[in-house]
Amino acid sequence: MKSVTLDYANMLSPNLGGGGVEPADLEGTWAETFRNAFEDVDARIESGEMGFFHLPDAREAASAVQELADGFGQWFENLVVLGIGGSALGTTTLRDSLLGPHWNELDDEARDHYPRLFVLDNVDPRSVSALLGRLDLGRTLFNVVSKSGSTAETMSQYMVVEGRLHELLGEEPTRGHFLFTTDPERGILRQIADEEGVPSLEVPGNVGGRFSVLSAVGLLPAAVAGIDITEVLEGARAMGQRCRTPVLKDNPAGLLATLLHHSDTVQGAPIHVLMPYSDRLRSFAAWFQQLWGESLGKAKTRDGREVNVGPTPLPAVGATDQHSLLQLLMEGPRDKVVVFLGVGPGDDSVEIPAIRQEFSALSYLGGHSLHELLDTERRSTMEALRQQGRPNLSLEVEDLTPRAMGELFMLFETATVFAAALYGIDPLDQPGVELSKKLTYGLLGREGYERPDLGTGSNDWRV
Ligand code: PA5
Repeated sequence: MKSVTLDYANMLSPNLGGGGVEPADLEGTWAETFRNAFEDVDARIESGEMGFFHLPDAREAASAVQELADGFGQWFENLVVLGIGGSALGTTTLRDSLLGPHWNELDDEARDHYPRLFVLDNVDPRSVSALLGRLDLGRTLFNVVSKSGSTAETMSQYMVVEGRLHELLGEEPTRGHFLFTTDPERGILRQIADEEGVPSLEVPGNVGGRFSVLSAVGLLPAAVAGIDITEVLEGARAMGQRCRTPVLKDNPAGLLATLLHHSDTVQGAPIHVLMPYSDRLRSFAAWFQQLWGESLGKAKTRDGREVNVGPTPLPAVGATDQHSLLQLLMEGPRDKVVVFLGVGPGDDSVEIPAIRQEFSALSYLGGHSLHELLDTERRSTMEALRQQGRPNLSLEVEDLTPRAMGELFMLFETATVFAAALYGIDPLDQPGVELSKKLTYGLLGREGYERPDLGTGSNDWRV
């Protein structure tokens, strides 16, 4: 059973009046190029370097997560995830797509007595104070998520929360309010968990932050909030299988990667817009932005050549951004390709009543549903772009189910590693983020780091 489909007709040259991919090339040169990229990725999957691909098969780890989640879910009103980047975005996506962006505003009954789920993915003091100030901390579980166990933002969140718990509970140990998700062996969180008996889960050593949503990182909070994680993993497994073929035309992740890589390197369109037509997928577009940007923006190839490559991911949402970005997409520089994401109607059908029939500018709407309007706008926008010779492709899912989300996560993660192989770079590292971390450490006085001269500081250039 497949629920995610990919329609790439609007990427093809004949449908765009020139300027796209030649269908013959997709069966010829590009099929061959992809086959090489596939073999490269396949070898890294087989050697265990790309652990994300095997997460759907880690049944024991998933059972451990479910067991812990069942226990915790009964005791707490709120679950707050402390984390940032890949340790936060997947959880927010799971919550928003499967529970709805307003889950935390629902009362206990409407939430079926599952805890509220917050993700504190920044150290903005206003957000931190606002959240901690309105929660009953005594009824709150804090899931500290950090693969490295040393990220400044996450560790600061943890220290602030632990300080607040001490104010509330006095000298009582706070371990009952924490659950750590971190590396199995390394890092400070692992050390504290081992020494103080804080319950903990493991992020496998071969799974990096932005590829970790299908590990305990995303699964634990999802399971605590009542999401069926077995179905999420089933969907991911099914998509993983669909993407395990070197035949380009049969491989959805291969096509996504090849077409977007082609748009960047051949068509001069390095800006990749992901535009789901669903409010519930806004956070998915933000998750994609991090995955695509941090994995593919690299200075060097894997064999050390200086290249400075990488597409720019741009999250959007339909139909809202038709009234914001569409003018630019239609008539601005031809440097963008849009990936639409359409969703079936689901159970929430909202009909537009056949009232105000006296106005012809309104009467055509009556009798249609809001979903019909939304999806018609998606299809019309795809066609409008096509008529302007602007490439676009479309993913479609029947419904926002746990299975479909598993499929989408695996599709994009696999497309990312295929795209990286096409660029010749390593999608798993992020050397470019280190310098600003070092400067921050130096400025805040961390032992072993020199205080840097920021190289600015003159008032001549400030107004
Ligand atoms: O994708 C990544 O590797 C990063 O975005 C990390 O997830 C982020 O920096 C947080 O790292 P950590 O989980 O080690 O705290």
